[in-house]
Amino acid sequence: MPSTHPRQRYLPVLALCLFWGWAWAQPAVDQQNRSTAARAVNLLSFVAVDYPEAVVGGAIRDRSLYRQLQGNVEVATSLLQALPDKPGRAQLLENLRALAQAVDKRAPVAEVRQRANTAADRFAALYQLPRSPAEPLPPAGEALALYQDRCQHCHGVRGDAPQAERKLNDPARMANLSLYDFYNVLEPTRNDAHDADVDGDLSHRERWALAVMVAGFAAPESAPALERAREYPALVGLPGAAILRPAELPSQARDALMWWRAHPQETAHLQHPLARAAGLLYLAQSAYRGGDTASAYHQVMLGLREGYAQARPQLVSRNPALAAQLDQQWQELRQSILDRAPSNEVIDKFQRLLGNVVRAREQMQPSSGSAVYAWAAVLFVAALGVGGLLWYRLRRRRR
Ligand code: HEC
Repeated sequence: MPSTHPRQRYLPVLALCLFWGWAWAQPAVDQQNRSTAARAVNLLSFVAVDYPEAVVGGAIRDRSLYRQLQGNVEVATSLLQALPDKPGRAQLLENLRALAQAVDKRAPVAEVRQRANTAADRFAALYQLPRSPAEPLPPAGEALALYQDRCQHCHGVRGDAPQAERKLNDPARMANLSLYDFYNVLEPTRNDAHDADVDGDLSHRERWALAVMVAGFAAPESAPALERAREYPALVGLPGAAILRPAELPSQARDALMWWRAHPQETAHLQHPLARAAGLLYLAQSAYRGGDTASAYHQVMLGLREGYAQARPQLVSRNPALAAQLDQQWQELRQSILDRAPSNEVIDKFQRLLGNVVRAREQMQPSSGSAVYAWAAVLFVAALGVGGLLWYRLRRRRR
């Protein structure tokens, strides 16, 4: 269990400081690869959302937009070719070729969207792009002054700009973009949609707050029914709320996600602490696999503190043996990251711990078939890694 003795509390902080010092001294290569991947994901996401404006019923409606989208696929392909080879890259190049062909022959919207989004998800997974913040999402209100100051004169008070390309309040369009896509548009080092004077100095937190605010312009008026949170636990919290495109979900889930992602402060309590722990462990693991050990450590500690620690008292009374095992596994995982243990050992510890967190989550809610949902949430989280929607298919088959 996390240390309760006051003096012991400083130890993790000290360890973390030392550790970050070490991590910052690491070469910035991974960081560069990730920003290349972020650029490619941005280009591909906009192929998916803009295509129906460029091509209607197999005919070109907007030639310059159509050319631009063809260009997006070309640039994404050359970015991929410049990135280090990995298992999966050849497959992704193949996906991009198929996407380019689909655009060239003006294939139906659904096909192009699906290909572009799948390619974007694979890109992100292959180069371990963190598409979700580790900290809880900030509330929209945090971005209000910034939005009024920097965005409103172009995008309108509520995203209701008169120019079509500046509108941020069209639910059909916004449902095809994830919260991460909004955040990614505001990347300070790129001047694609916005010049540096708009977003060049924004912090991660400011970008996430702006993304949440933008999501609010197209969100439904009222909150979804409470049972939606039990049906779709992976959408209430991170990483699901940041990564998923609402349009790819069944309609109830889509509407719920459109609201939840715009009101993170009102959804925090809907997520079971163990689901939060599992989400953070998932993020930590993908950061670790991507070579970002400092973030991985930070997310593990957050999962321990903000997730597991809160559910532990209840778990101890339900299943003390499992609680004891989990205490030890968290400790071992933490230590193995700090000790820079071989990465296969660390990954193994991640997976065992994640498996037991899921088991614990099931035991906390043994009634009413909710175990199915806990498993669905985890399968879903696992599916995010490959960009598939395994979870959604699973649910659909169960109906
Ligand atoms: C100078 C005018 C201008 C300012 C200021 C501006 N934007 Fe934009 N923004 C645009 C234009 C134009 C696009 C469309 C770009 C494109 O299609 O390539 C856009 C695109 C976007 C998009 C993508 C939406 C979509 O549907 O494609 C988001 C999100 C966004 N802006 C948010 C913001 C935020 C947040 C700010 C403030 C920090 C901001 N913008 C400031 C002009 C502006």
